[in-house]
Amino acid sequence: MSEKTAKLSLSSEEHEFNVREGTIGPRVVDISSLYKETGAFTYDPGFTSTAACESKITFIDGDKGTLLHRGYPIEQLADHGDFLEVCYLLLYGELPTRTQKEDFDYRVTRHTMVHEQMNRFFTGFRRDAHPMAVMCGTVGALSAFYHDSTDISDPHQRMVASMRMIAKMPTIAAMAYKYHIGQPFVYPQNDLDYASNFLRMCFAVPCEEYKVNPVLARAMDRIFILHADHEQNASTSTVRLAGSSGANPFACIAAGIACLWGPAHGGANEAALNMLSEIGTPDRIPEFVARAKDKDDPFRLMGFGHRVYKNYDPRAKIMQKTTHEVLGELGIKDDPMLEVALELEKMALNDDYFIEKKLYPNIDFYSGITLRALGFPTNMFTVLFSVARTVGWIAQWKEMIEDPHQRIGRPRQLYTGATERDYLPIDRRS
Ligand code: SDX
Repeated sequence: MSEKTAKLSLSSEEHEFNVREGTIGPRVVDISSLYKETGAFTYDPGFTSTAACESKITFIDGDKGTLLHRGYPIEQLADHGDFLEVCYLLLYGELPTRTQKEDFDYRVTRHTMVHEQMNRFFTGFRRDAHPMAVMCGTVGALSAFYHDSTDISDPHQRMVASMRMIAKMPTIAAMAYKYHIGQPFVYPQNDLDYASNFLRMCFAVPCEEYKVNPVLARAMDRIFILHADHEQNASTSTVRLAGSSGANPFACIAAGIACLWGPAHGGANEAALNMLSEIGTPDRIPEFVARAKDKDDPFRLMGFGHRVYKNYDPRAKIMQKTTHEVLGELGIKDDPMLEVALELEKMALNDDYFIEKKLYPNIDFYSGITLRALGFPTNMFTVLFSVARTVGWIAQWKEMIEDPHQRIGRPRQLYTGATERDYLPIDRRS
């Protein structure tokens, strides 16, 4: 039976804190009264040992390489479900009945259009603006259009805002892509499923009929599933923190998009593909592996390593399978990038440095190869990640708002700056 309390002795005083067990996974020491009792803070930059909240949505076992959404393994959801079913599961906590699924699909589909005046936001951007910059701007602007769903204290408005975000992100992402390449926007089509609608909005042109390839649409849908939610990652924690002040959900999602853009996080898929193309051929792999191991070289193998997974990222395995499916469907036999990726993975997984540091391919290692084969330019990869992760951000935001213990997030610090000193007139400064 594990302990119910944890003891801390500080300046010869004994303090006791409650230990709480979850349903699965690491227990927590509740140190919320630590400062009041001891006048000391905990110190955990990067939150490597900090549980910032209680959640029922997603569980990751980094040692086993397992990922559960509301208890269901990602492998089963990716094999048997579709993205909107996973959205329903993340939002409501249970898999939908047939009627619930039909109603949910109907509601999402009929929220996919954006206000016609949204089009004008795009014309303000340079055509060569990074699509993620466009996403940050346009998604943040949504709160200017939907005043009827920004009262976060109203459960109905919270759900309306959630549906709008899930429904409109693919439309806005496709518009960002079309604007970037100078093609006209394509309106959503209500008789298409979520992934097919998105592919059509991205790749259809007014001059000819666009036929959705069902194999590619299924692959796109599965890629959305794999990116839907991932516990308290950096962008989800950003959305929670923004939401804890009472900011409206559209602004919170825009904050999540901004955080996801970083190459250490969602930007890694774009960085990984750029890395694979820089390596170019398998014979250059040892040079890059050596650089990744060199403490004095800031270079890292993009798409490798993870804060939580110290085993294979289960999503990477499913993504690798999807890569082969997509390349096979498109008749791409020997993709040089895939050849480099497979060889790099093999080499890294047999290298003591990567074994000792438990660095495995993560979801971003293979996703870029797949997305490029589907026809997306590299700078759209993180945009696609943000489309999928919107449901995770929204579900986690909703859970936080509905948590009766929720308070504004306000961490403290270890101050190592100047002690108090008096102002010096400018003519007396050296
Ligand atoms: C995502 O959190 C999530 O769940 C994120 C995500 C999600 O779905 O939301 O899973 C999506 O962001 C996946 C991760 C994508 N990022 C990358 O692929 C970028 C490359 N990876 C690294 O930057 C790094 O692995 C992180 C950012 C992912 C994790 O960083 P940590 O946990 O802070 O680990 P660390 O930087 O402290 O590394 C531990 C050691 C270090 O060596 P030492 O200082 O101990 O000697 O491992 C080394 C690092 O130098 N290391 C790497 C490496 N990643 C870590 N060395 C070479 N190549 C790498 N990729």
